[in-house]
Amino acid sequence: MSTAVEQTDSQADDCTGKQAALAGYVAEFPNPSALKQAAGQTREAGFKEFDCYAPFPVHGIDDVMGIKMTRLPYIVLACAFTGAITAVALQYFTNAFDYKYIISGKPFFSIPADVPITFELAVLFSAFGSLLGMLALNKLPKFYNRLFMIDPFLKATTNGFFLAIEAKDPKFHENDTREFLNSLKPIEVVACMEPNENVKIPKIFLPIAACILIFGLVPLVVIARMRVTPQTTPRIEIVHDMDFQPKLKTQRFSNMFADGRGMRPRIPGTLARGDLRHDTAFYEGLIPEQADKVNREHLLPNAKKEDGTSVSLDKMPWVSQIPVPVDEKLMARGQERFNIYCSVCHGLSGKGDGIITQRAMKLQAANPGVGTWLLPTPLYSEPVRKQKVGQLFNTITHGVRKMPGYGSQIPVKDRWAIVLYLRALQESGSGSIEDVPAEIREKLNAEAKE
Ligand code: HEC
Repeated sequence: MSTAVEQTDSQADDCTGKQAALAGYVAEFPNPSALKQAAGQTREAGFKEFDCYAPFPVHGIDDVMGIKMTRLPYIVLACAFTGAITAVALQYFTNAFDYKYIISGKPFFSIPADVPITFELAVLFSAFGSLLGMLALNKLPKFYNRLFMIDPFLKATTNGFFLAIEAKDPKFHENDTREFLNSLKPIEVVACMEPNENVKIPKIFLPIAACILIFGLVPLVVIARMRVTPQTTPRIEIVHDMDFQPKLKTQRFSNMFADGRGMRPRIPGTLARGDLRHDTAFYEGLIPEQADKVNREHLLPNAKKEDGTSVSLDKMPWVSQIPVPVDEKLMARGQERFNIYCSVCHGLSGKGDGIITQRAMKLQAANPGVGTWLLPTPLYSEPVRKQKVGQLFNTITHGVRKMPGYGSQIPVKDRWAIVLYLRALQESGSGSIEDVPAEIREKLNAEAKE
């Protein structure tokens, strides 16, 4: 069984007939345990440049061969750190150095806010590190393996167990190594030859490669060109996905109507269902009899008249009575909604010292030239006190100057509740101790003394 086979002529010579150099020996073994034993003996004999090939993982063979743990985890760890540091540096540079911007008084640089990007970049870099590191450590891609030139070796993927010792091993010797392998009782030992150096790439290869390269660039050039040239015809769609659906979108063409518009203009004198906001006092804070005269555009923040002058909101026909029944429940609701939506800027007392304002002012003071944060108007200041409830309602709905509107977030009735609570804040903000009922007054005094 264990007879060595001499190298065959076809392996010894290449087509030029020149003697090729020896690259190593490959020994085939009958089963995994024989391979494992041979591997142990090869290692004991002092060989370093050898490897085992089997169709499936052979348990324990790594230890026998003296294979150390892969260095890949360290590469991945280094990549993860690089990713994390890159992310933190990027966020520091953009948010805290290059373009400082006050957003709700948040700090320019804050590790908790940076965590998601840092985590993601660490994961991304580690993924690249593990893939590229694996390829590099395995010396891949490898287009050619001389072991594949040995016919019996092809069994390595089905039922062959091979051990190869390379000629570059310092202990390798043409005859001694072959004898050593034979002493391990293999099925056979085959010499593996270096490919002849004179082997040349076939001449036709270059022009073909050049053609493939050039034609490969054509789609990219076409795409690049299409991106910068205006088209009059619809684009070619290879995959339609859900691009075409039998429904109309805003600003789209439709041949259903004579004017070709998919979006229908409002028909004069009609209203959409549920859009009858007849009660202008409730919905807009405007006196119903005079509401028709009001240009609604003028109710928006920073509105200008046709002649370019700014609109005076004070002169609008605002209602002066809250148009919903006022009771304690509404007041409680108003306080709750105010504390949720308004107190962040205006402060719980309406003084203008909300938490966002405090932080933003601190940031602004510490970083001259950064930001233009505006202090919210004290809600009990004289001009605001003088405003009618309708105007306060309008301020909540649409906003005013630099303050954003909250109409889309706060339902109409809740806006009136807030208006009611604003009035209460204004009373408390300008009241004196005489306004407090006698029994509570004593309690307050007692508390103040403590
Ligand atoms: C994001 C911060 C912020 C929030 C939240 C906010 N405001 Fe304001 N508010 C301001 C600022 C800033 C001004 C001053 C605007 C200006 O003068 O340009 C202002 C002004 C006002 C004024 C005075 C309007 C005038 O005519 O002078 C009223 C009234 C007011 N806010 C009510 C409210 C109410 C009620 C809420 C809650 C629904 C609220 N604000 C929520 C920032 C805020």
